[in-house]
Amino acid sequence: MIHQQKGNGVANGKIILLGEHSVVYGKPSIALPFQAVTTQTLVTTSQEKTEIHCDFYHGLIDDLPELLDSLREVVRVCLVTLNQESTPINITIDSQIPAERGMGSSAAVAVATTRAIFDFFKSPLTDELLLEIVGISEKIAHGNPSGLDALMTSGHRSVCFIKNQPPRDIELNLSAFLVVADTGITGQTKEAVSSLSKKLETCETGYFQDIIDKLGHLTYDGLSYLQHNQPEKLGQVMNQTHNLLKELDISSPELDILVNSALDHNALGAKLTGGGRGGCMIALAKNKDDAKNIAQELKHAGAKQTWLYEMSE
Ligand code: PMV
Repeated sequence: MIHQQKGNGVANGKIILLGEHSVVYGKPSIALPFQAVTTQTLVTTSQEKTEIHCDFYHGLIDDLPELLDSLREVVRVCLVTLNQESTPINITIDSQIPAERGMGSSAAVAVATTRAIFDFFKSPLTDELLLEIVGISEKIAHGNPSGLDALMTSGHRSVCFIKNQPPRDIELNLSAFLVVADTGITGQTKEAVSSLSKKLETCETGYFQDIIDKLGHLTYDGLSYLQHNQPEKLGQVMNQTHNLLKELDISSPELDILVNSALDHNALGAKLTGGGRGGCMIALAKNKDDAKNIAQELKHAGAKQTWLYEMSE
């Protein structure tokens, strides 16, 4: 197969507005592409063996640490799919998406890398094939991924997503701003997903399943408030969602401190976003001035980084 001098691939971050964790159990989720942070992968020719260069590792792919197993897998699957296992390549990954913070960094790395490898070998890549390959790598990163991260980090549309169903595009038309804040502490998506799965399996009273059902209903309510431009009501849904996620042991003291600080400073609602137990939280603000003020207060309360996101397109 012919290849070019360089292959490039890009992916963006994502924010889950509502529905994290319950999405794994067939409930709806609402997610937004987050283009403030991106991942870029560059593929070039290598002399002898395939090499990886990223913030966490520089060296031969054969010696990648276990932590990067999902990356090894995505490269392997791409090369097998393209029948290029014996072609050595150099893979350089540059990501501004903070790792393990609920912004979909592992999926973004897989998306950007898959795109770059296919670009390098001048082979067309359909969305279906991209999601299939990223899904294989996300299984290693997350255990039981819903597919939401792969979809969101590869696309630019806000969606309502239900596992194993085609995503529904949502037009963002809410007169509000979202503040995104990073606790600076790595989240634990895999552990949180697997501990919730154990809770659901072993609970005989249906208590945890009821919470999952409630999260599903709240997400549908939130979708309606989003589409009818009712930011106050959406804020309330975010608060209720955060409290239910807390009951599922998905939050952390650092996330709760930031959520409470946002609510103390005029946020319409606030919650964790993504896998939880660390990572990022989001707060809904009436307008840009409120959002800036909340962002500043979140920094005082310990946030390492904040971003503003306008909720209209
Ligand atoms: O923490 P993140 O960005 O990987 O988000 C995970 C979202 C979950 O709903 C917890 C898991 C999933 O696969 O949807």
